[in-house]
Amino acid sequence: MEWILGLHSLLRWLILIFLIINIFRSMVEADASYTPADIKWNLRLLIVAHTNLLLGFVQYFFGSKGFAYFKDNSFGDIMKNAALRFWAVEHITGMIIAVAIITISRGVTKKDLPDLVKHKRQLLLYSLALLIIIASIPWPFRTGLGSPWFRGLY
Ligand code: HEM
Repeated sequence: MEWILGLHSLLRWLILIFLIINIFRSMVEADASYTPADIKWNLRLLIVAHTNLLLGFVQYFFGSKGFAYFKDNSFGDIMKNAALRFWAVEHITGMIIAVAIITISRGVTKKDLPDLVKHKRQLLLYSLALLIIIASIPWPFRTGLGSPWFRGLY
């Protein structure tokens, strides 16, 4: 399980970088056509996001943080405790919504729409996904959660 957590932790950076690249591209190319390079960049993002979603599910259901909390605590108790609530409810919910938005964004850009509209919608959806992901990561500075910036490296 340790390597799954390490990979899950590391892929967060790739997701953030790919999101920023996609957002940047849709900003600077807002007037330009929607190219095969754009399609490749949002495919790369989709692949890493879905991979991390899968790794997250494995940890949630087979690890010690997540579903396991429901065995020893009532739903009310979990909601009253910030750390338990984060792992049992908030992280999974936020990340599923963010990955759904990334998936929708990929779908939108494949539709028969003017290129300008594709860039605009992509900009909006990826910005929203970025905000949700940043809010749902257990950053080292978050009290009671504090996962490392780079697991295994220090
Ligand atoms: C796809 C976007 C996701 C990102 C960017 C992300 C990011 C992270 C990060 C940064 C950590 C801390 C890792 C560490 O301690 O080094 C973590 C832990 C965890 N994530 Fe995610 N996550 C995502 C999706 C999910 C989903 C969808 C689930 C559940 C289905 C999930 C379940 C977990 C669990 C259970 C842990 C704690 C594992 C443990 O410490 O035992 N993650 N995640």
